[in-house]
Amino acid sequence: MKKINFSSQAIIYDDISELSIEDQNLMEEANVAKNSSYAPYSKFNVGAAILLEDGTIVHGSNQENAAYPSGMCAERVAIWKVGSEYPNAIIKKIAIIATSSLKTVDKPVGPCGACRQTLLEYELNQKTPFEVLFMGEVGKIVKTTSLVSLLPFSFDSSYL
Ligand code: THU
Repeated sequence: MKKINFSSQAIIYDDISELSIEDQNLMEEANVAKNSSYAPYSKFNVGAAILLEDGTIVHGSNQENAAYPSGMCAERVAIWKVGSEYPNAIIKKIAIIATSSLKTVDKPVGPCGACRQTLLEYELNQKTPFEVLFMGEVGKIVKTTSLVSLLPFSFDSSYL
């Protein structure tokens, strides 16, 4: 038996003004993406913006459905748009922002487990980590270094 350590790093910012200009801009793009959120059921609006290496920014927002499980998260809408429209692109980072009309979202909203798994596939394929930034409506902003760090012991194509 042996114990192993696995660690990941995140930077926690107190205010958006502490982010680099590039990161601030991408978060602003995520906020713009959020305008197209369709969330009549949860009232929880999420926007995601993905920055590609060539500077292209790809938006996604959550799209709900009366048949609840048929809805989709903002992050997967955005990453699948990258996969289908820019299949050879290198992803540099993704920014995520969420608000709710029911309450003030005062904690950073990280991607759900299914989104982490989906994003990871693209990170592994491009063999270069990409950063994940996320925030709520107010409060701190989190920046992580990679999908691998957000999903230890994950499942990937090597098992198949
Ligand atoms: N949602 C996202 O868009 N991203 C996440 O990572 C978590 C949840 C959406 C899905 C649903 O439309 C709403 O937020 C409430 O779960």
